[in-house]
Amino acid sequence: MKKQICMVLSLLLLFIMEGCGNRVAEGGQGNISPESEAQTERRQNINHKGASAETEDGELSEAVSGRSQKAEQQTDMDDKILVVYFSATGTTKPLAEYAAEILNADIYEIVPEEPYTEADLAYYTNCRADQEQNDPSARPEISGSVENMEDYDIIVLGYPIWHGQAPRIISTFLESYDFSGKTVIPFCTSHSSGIGSSADNLHSLCPDSTVWAEGRRFEAETSRSTIEEWLDRMNQI
Ligand SMILES: Cc1cc2nc3c(=O)[nH]c(=O)nc-3n(C[C@H](O)[C@H](O)[C@H](O)COP(=O)(O)O)c2cc1C
Repeated sequence: MKKQICMVLSLLLLFIMEGCGNRVAEGGQGNISPESEAQTERRQNINHKGASAETEDGELSEAVSGRSQKAEQQTDMDDKILVVYFSATGTTKPLAEYAAEILNADIYEIVPEEPYTEADLAYYTNCRADQEQNDPSARPEISGSVENMEDYDIIVLGYPIWHGQAPRIISTFLESYDFSGKTVIPFCTSHSSGIGSSADNLHSLCPDSTVWAEGRRFEAETSRSTIEEWLDRMNQI
């Protein structure tokens, strides 16, 4: 009988020890097992990926919505468009006129208060134009103004390149009105230079909410159909 009790107690003890052993292992596994670290890492990766996907998606949808907003602004039939240009020697002028015709837009010429003479435009002679371009604070005065700028949603802005930049009178123009929420589509003409940093520098004179389309440089005597193709492409942005 004693022997039987001993055996039952031993079995009971074994059973209890087995149970405790499992609990320790479970505890150990939960804290330190490499498998669990890998799981954590994977989870972190998934979470991280999820977060970055969200961010990317967020950025993407922001970009997409920004883009479609821009497209809307550019394609909405109700949008009112103003073509604005400055042309000292008559090269930019016909291109601006084509754009206004094609877009059925209003047109406004930036006319300097003090007209540029031939001598003023003889670049690399320290002429008036050279001096203005050398002075970032130069703001040549404009004769007249756009009365109803608030009516326009889109401004197509044409100018010649003067020493790699837009003439300072374009800065005068941009600083004279509130372009918040408007879209500006810049273009330029030049002897050979590209639009370069000229459009970006003009953009920096406008509020953050002004949308700037990518600018384009045209050579002298660019055809109406080239301007039309360009504007068609702008509409598809
Ligand atoms: C002061 C001045 C600076 C110029 N600088 C450049 C230049 O840096 N690069 C270039 O290719 N053409 C330059 N040009 C040439 C004009 O960009 C080009 O003739 C332009 O098409 C003139 O346009 P508009 O006739 O509408 O004024 C310059 C012209 C002037 C008057």
